[in-house]
Amino acid sequence: MELPHTEPFKIKMVENIYNSTREQREKWLRDSSYNLFNLRSEQVFIDLLTDSGTGAMSDKQWSSMMLGDESYAGATSYYKLKEAIKEITGFNYFLPTHQGRAAENVLFSVLVKEGDLVPGNSHFDTTKGHIEFRKAKAVDCTIDIAADTTVWHPFKGNADIDKLEHVLQTNPREKISCIIITITNNTSGGQPVSMANLRAVGSLSKKYGVKFIIDSARFAENAYFIKTREEGYADRDIREIIREMFSYADGMTMSSKKDAIVNMGGFIGFRDEDLFRQASTYNIMFEGFITYGGMSGRDMNAMAQGLYEGTDFSYLKSRISQVAHLGTRMKEYGIPVLEPFGGHAIFIDAKKFLPEIPKEEFPAQTLTLEFYLEGGVRGVEIGALMADRDPLTRKNRYPRLEMVRLALPRRVYTDNHMDYTAAVIKNVFDRRDKIKRGVKIIREAPIMRHFTIELERIV
Ligand code: F0G
Repeated sequence: MELPHTEPFKIKMVENIYNSTREQREKWLRDSSYNLFNLRSEQVFIDLLTDSGTGAMSDKQWSSMMLGDESYAGATSYYKLKEAIKEITGFNYFLPTHQGRAAENVLFSVLVKEGDLVPGNSHFDTTKGHIEFRKAKAVDCTIDIAADTTVWHPFKGNADIDKLEHVLQTNPREKISCIIITITNNTSGGQPVSMANLRAVGSLSKKYGVKFIIDSARFAENAYFIKTREEGYADRDIREIIREMFSYADGMTMSSKKDAIVNMGGFIGFRDEDLFRQASTYNIMFEGFITYGGMSGRDMNAMAQGLYEGTDFSYLKSRISQVAHLGTRMKEYGIPVLEPFGGHAIFIDAKKFLPEIPKEEFPAQTLTLEFYLEGGVRGVEIGALMADRDPLTRKNRYPRLEMVRLALPRRVYTDNHMDYTAAVIKNVFDRRDKIKRGVKIIREAPIMRHFTIELERIV
């Protein structure tokens, strides 16, 4: 028989986790104002809140930390990271930042001004936050099919090239800050963007003289999907695919907490020296000198090593297969999950799970509470709470997809943990008819409210 693919690592160190009782969880939920971001991590059994900064570093990463050079300027760790970035992405210039949103802050300080438009596929919430904070507008040009959670399309993260071109055609060039394509497309369900789509966006950006930036948090997972789904790429090496993906762009922002498998860190990559120089000033103001930018030398070393490990095919295959394992279990139980399964997470369609709860009562948030109560599983709402209010009308925005995301930390949980998680969701699914009401907002921040929002259950 064909031997199964296994994880290309074994476990050297473990961290104990403890389950709690339903009564305890009920109290903790009340104390946290029905916002799972307010829980203490030890109150959570299986933590699928995010795959960001939650991965397990390897022995090589930990040992590289001992060689970290903490010099203020010109540290060896900086050059080590620079080399890794150059080799993997092809970008000659880079600025380290403390995480992804910091990269956005620095780069957008150069590119985005009041009244601008920033078209692309779906922008992640911090990206949109940084755009709207500058009184500019993020224009979501994702293909329409992405809103259908059941139809199978290999690259549901794609931008609709006609929609994108329409934005470029109907607005003056100086009003477009840049095009941003997020790979994988987190907001539309961890869905990949095809090479053909990146190539087409690259051509548009050249045709209209607009810069093309890739929000690259999960670029390696995106490359895995290109290799396994796009014609002509099956025999290409993952790193070759990655270099081609980035070859169409002028720059990248990176949250290294995802595919570089570190707990903290980020960077901006540039093709063009001029843009790099302009951004350097903001990096020094907001992050730190250009050879450390918010990172310790040891963390840059771990990131350099993590970039190689995170772009290894065998690792990517085991990671994405684990996500699919969870998705397949849930599908077998009849749970409405978004398909195809995402690269980093399984997304549950809350409108289908709880059809009787109106959107004004935030069905996805309601589900996250139920999953936690049932078995200590923490997911995150990707729906109307996360979508914030419209900056002008201050009305709630209700996105087409109202979902709960279960994001898998890298190299952290076993498939048994995934089976447990699927069973928790099944139990909630079996009693879904009894969940009659959702939640209402008691207090919220004006922007990126879901992190700190306070809620009450409607009874
Ligand atoms: N871009 C994407 C596509 C992201 O998913 C994130 C973070 C960021 C940018 C910002 O990076 O967190 O390092 O500042 N996503 C996390 C998540 C928080 O849970 O999906 P950061």
